[in-house]
Amino acid sequence: MGNVLPNNSREQQRKKQPSELQFYFVITKSYTYDITDYDTETFMLNKMRLLTPGPTPLPERVRLVLARDMIHHRKKAFTAIMREVQQKLQKLFGTAQPVLPLSASGTGAMTAAVHGLFTPGEKILVVEAGKFGQRWRDIAITRGLETVSLEVPWGQAVNAEQIEAALSADARIKGVLLQLSETSTGVLHPVQEIGRITRERDVLLVVDGISGVGLSPCPMDDWGLDCLLTGSQKGLMLPPGLSLLALSARAWNKATQTPSGCFYFNLPKERANLEKGQTLFTSPVNLLMGLNESLDMLLENGLEAVYAKQWALTMLTRAGLTALGLELFAPDHFAWGITSVHLPDGVDGVEVLRIAQQQYGVCMAGGQDHLKGRIVRIGHMGWVDWSDILAGLYALDRALLINGGYSGARDYLEQAMAAYRIALLGKPGEALPEALIRS
Ligand SMILES: Cc1ncc(COP(=O)(O)O)c(C=O)c1O
Repeated sequence: MGNVLPNNSREQQRKKQPSELQFYFVITKSYTYDITDYDTETFMLNKMRLLTPGPTPLPERVRLVLARDMIHHRKKAFTAIMREVQQKLQKLFGTAQPVLPLSASGTGAMTAAVHGLFTPGEKILVVEAGKFGQRWRDIAITRGLETVSLEVPWGQAVNAEQIEAALSADARIKGVLLQLSETSTGVLHPVQEIGRITRERDVLLVVDGISGVGLSPCPMDDWGLDCLLTGSQKGLMLPPGLSLLALSARAWNKATQTPSGCFYFNLPKERANLEKGQTLFTSPVNLLMGLNESLDMLLENGLEAVYAKQWALTMLTRAGLTALGLELFAPDHFAWGITSVHLPDGVDGVEVLRIAQQQYGVCMAGGQDHLKGRIVRIGHMGWVDWSDILAGLYALDRALLINGGYSGARDYLEQAMAAYRIALLGKPGEALPEALIRS
């Protein structure tokens, strides 16, 4: 239990609190700091929990592989790993096509897709439903493309009819670019339905699956996607710095006829190297070895088990937040790896996150742009389980109270766990019966 302090002492205490860096020293070398001054909750040796929508915590199995010594990226031992990784990646992406590893964060793969598939002057449709939709537009403009934006209010998903109408109105549009999961809002777009529309036309469907791949189903070939890409630091349980990209047969057709827009990203040359078990330039060797291990973990019990876990974590998070009396930011069409929630008016969201991290060791993300301080984004992706999310809900509740917020039902953790258990019994993606959660 923490000390009970009058409000003014809390304020003095807040001013005395150490920076994040100093806090790190408290954790690792508690003797460097005089902890007796503070609320004991603050300075217990909390386990740090990373509940952000990437990067995510790493499993021990992966960390141990990442720690191995270097091997050469043009020699046999490495090319053998590359071949293993390739087979597993094709399962993850649900494709018979090669999945290219690129030495770049996710934005690198987005850049590679735009520069490799479209030539300056071509017209594309961008779904702008958040920060990462805007990124597609910015990259496309850099490539000299003509862009049309389908703007969707943040927190909502685009609907497939809107895409169909836009494509029917303009036959010059040669690509639709969107996110599977828009990480700035926590929305899941109906990519499967959009694929039914684009596969019938001469229009490439390019999907940023950075916060969706390995978290919710997205079988590329079945859904008719022309490009699916992701990054290492989310569903794949790896550090940042590696991205993965696959093209459909017709997208490869186009890519081979498109003079690459940049030197570093050259998709046909990457594919030719992949056939030899290599990458075009020096490979991110450790990340690829780590990927081999994390893919084993994801595939060991089948992807269905991974998606079932993600769905159950999503239900847990949403039920807990709702029980706390908070309003979910994405009411429907929500992602399975991130949940965003409105903060009550008058509560300083930046301060809420600071308290949650400093006093409870839970690091969550805030809103971006106009949502800064107004929403909290809880990542439940990567090496995160139910107990981490319970810690996150508790930290959020306490931080809200400290910042003048309120708390809803006192049994919010029970309600969250009930939703989790019920979700695990049901079918991923299917709504839970309200009555069951409360019974
Ligand atoms: C959906 C989405 N797209 C793109 C990015 C950018 O990826 P990176 O920061 O790895 O370049 C992110 C990162 O959070 C993302 O979530």
